[in-house]
Amino acid sequence: MKNSVKIDFKLNGQDVSVETHPMKRLLDVLREELDYTGTKEGCGEGECGACSVMMDQTLVNSCLVPIAQCSGVDILTVEGLGNQENLHPIQQAFLECGGAQCGICTPGMLMASFELLQKNPCPNENQIREGLAGNLCRCTGYMKIFDSVKKASEVLK
Ligand code: FES
Ligand code: FES
Repeated sequence: MKNSVKIDFKLNGQDVSVETHPMKRLLDVLREELDYTGTKEGCGEGECGACSVMMDQTLVNSCLVPIAQCSGVDILTVEGLGNQENLHPIQQAFLECGGAQCGICTPGMLMASFELLQKNPCPNENQIREGLAGNLCRCTGYMKIFDSVKKASEVLK
């Protein structure tokens, strides 16, 4: 590819290498080049949080991150949290509390919840609301999502 660069980084604990345009969005590299389609696109403008992933222990909107910024970083996506046979406790709590409906916001909600519980293992409801303030959901009315995070915090603490 013209103007492509080689970028090496860690994805869910594995070394990966891509050769692509330096301004290609991390979101697109994950979905189109590495086939990690768990991360979703909502707004594409940094407003909805559907594309949230962890980058070096910090939650980022992958629609706003050019792949050129990813050299040598650690990326964690929803695929790295758990899988169908071995759900992460946060995923299990979303399942049990009805925290996911259409599922478009869910990977981002899970990653935001993961970051929140890493920083604050026992958040109260206000802290959960604040922790998920950057993530929008059109379906659930949020209460079941907040219940899910509370339940996950009880399991994880
Ligand atoms: Fe990235 Fe909405 S798709 S914040
Ligand atoms: Fe549909 Fe949240 S479950 S947008």
